Amino acid sequence: MNTQQRGLFLTLEGVDGAGKSTHVQWLVDQLTERGVQVVCTREPGGTALGEKLRALLLHEPMSLECETLLMFAARAEHLQAVIEPALRAGQWVVCDRFTDATFAYQGGGRELGVERIAVLERWVHPALQPDCTWLFDVPLAVARERLDRTREQDRFEQEAAAFFERTRAVYLARAQQEPLRIQRVDATQSVDQIRQQIVLQLEQLVTERRLT
Ligand code: TMP
Repeated sequence: MNTQQRGLFLTLEGVDGAGKSTHVQWLVDQLTERGVQVVCTREPGGTALGEKLRALLLHEPMSLECETLLMFAARAEHLQAVIEPALRAGQWVVCDRFTDATFAYQGGGRELGVERIAVLERWVHPALQPDCTWLFDVPLAVARERLDRTREQDRFEQEAAAFFERTRAVYLARAQQEPLRIQRVDATQSVDQIRQQIVLQLEQLVTERRLT
């Protein structure tokens, strides 16, 4: 009998420039120090095919329908090849963005709305949701200041402020609707303050896991 306990699925979200990427490796290190086996990955991407789709998504002009379907095409591959096998094997998965990003960016930023994304979500991962999502939230002015202007901006980073206002609004609405899963992180705080908050929540997740 397979008594392996499923791993936890943790995601990080936020508008471009919110600063979440600074914390991804740190989060993995924190879990590893606590004896958790972790797979660290990202969306769009996470597989050889997914990384090719990422390059298209970030740099190739395309219709909104194509963009949304490609996000989910990459996700389907990622789930089957990386996320689900790892979770089944008891490993924890830390993923830089997941379906909340599609609701926020394509649904909100690009104004596709919720319905069609919800259909794709039910198709691609009807039973799986992240166990915990950290939403790095900053006012738009701060996010835009933090964007790395030393490199060429991708298709999303080049969007106007109104796009990011809509994206952020969807993220915040989702955090309100799902307060147990989505933890808002005030990302205007210092790196240390942010990590203090996340560590407390991590400790809780690790302890709960050990008790179940
Ligand atoms: P990153 O900058 O966090 O690596 O993400 C790449 C870009 O892709 C970012 O601007 C957000 C965007 N994106 C979407 O628009 N929809 C999605 O579903 C995902 C996963 C990312």
